[in-house]
Amino acid sequence: MTNQQLQEKFQQQFGQTAQHTFFGPGRVNLIGEHIDYNGGLVMPCAITFGTYLLTAPNAEGKFRLRSLNFKEELTVPVQDHYQKTGDSWFNYPLGVIDYFAQAGKELQGLDMLFYGDIPIGSGLSSSASIEVVTAFALNTLFNGNFSRLDLVKIAKQVENQFIGVNCGIMDQFAVGFGEKDKALKLDCETVEYEAVDCNLGDYVLAIINTNKPRKLAESKYNERVNECQEALKALRHEIAINYLCDLEPEVLQKHLHLIQDPVVKNRAQHVVEENHRVKQAAGALAANRIDEFGKLMYASHQSLKDLYEVSGKELDTIVEFALTRDDVAGARMTGAGFGGCAIALVKGDSFDDFSEKITAYYTEKIGYAPSVYNSLIGDGVKEL
Ligand code: GLA
Repeated sequence: MTNQQLQEKFQQQFGQTAQHTFFGPGRVNLIGEHIDYNGGLVMPCAITFGTYLLTAPNAEGKFRLRSLNFKEELTVPVQDHYQKTGDSWFNYPLGVIDYFAQAGKELQGLDMLFYGDIPIGSGLSSSASIEVVTAFALNTLFNGNFSRLDLVKIAKQVENQFIGVNCGIMDQFAVGFGEKDKALKLDCETVEYEAVDCNLGDYVLAIINTNKPRKLAESKYNERVNECQEALKALRHEIAINYLCDLEPEVLQKHLHLIQDPVVKNRAQHVVEENHRVKQAAGALAANRIDEFGKLMYASHQSLKDLYEVSGKELDTIVEFALTRDDVAGARMTGAGFGGCAIALVKGDSFDDFSEKITAYYTEKIGYAPSVYNSLIGDGVKEL
């Protein structure tokens, strides 16, 4: 949808002209999966798909929330707190409005039109993107005086408390701080980061959406978070650590006997080894060793499949196909898993062939087609 079309839609919806247009991107994570809530290193990038938000004040003292992606709409008066209603999309912006209201910010009636070109529920962080773009917009329009990092933390808190998913900070951070052509090397314990050049040489970043409906993803996600807590608790009987990622793989091996449950052992092993892989991957990317980076991606996927058990036959089929190709350096699932998207580093001049062949392979095995995108790394949240 062009900017002009968005403006027209706003006019049709609200009978007035939009005064501001904001954009919050989605993200992919290159490596470091299920690491953020364990205090380790991750490497996400913002992408050029995302959520647009057009706004104009209204004189009715109401928030009017509309979306071009969903039918449900919400109109609520400006008040000092709000509650989640059902499972509708508007709970994400409503949670952010609630945060600002409870923080005592002076809010006024606002017409808000959302449009996302990220495939919804595909694991590319459509939810973080809508949360952060709303927080950024309210902060700009109502002089919230929050820093960019505050906005990221507010969006995460909304996801944790208002929505009820115990996610870490990676997605909201990537949406807030992404930079064109850069990957963010983010330490999730200190929230310090470095924007590193994402120079992929001859390769491009392909995103392959499994198009699998993601049911149960939230409850399974929270289950993994709890398993990591359990592992941490057991290890703390002998070692003083704040997070699983404070451990090097050799140290974990020495203390693994402290964890009784074999499943919980596997979870801890994934986390500690994945964190170690991110450090190696950062070195490989900085030195343009894309082959090495790709191998680490494959290893990451294997571990998410076997030890962390968050993959599935759809994601595995994509990686299995990638492994047969000399023009693919590496591939893995990205994001929480349980469906969603995989990423692959594919030689630029064979992208079209890759796209065509993987579509045929996947469709034959799974019974429906994936979507394949040639993704660009874009900027974080901004006003357009
Ligand atoms: C989801 C969560 C993130 C992160 C990833 C897995 O995207 O929102 O916080 O935990 O899963 O790496």
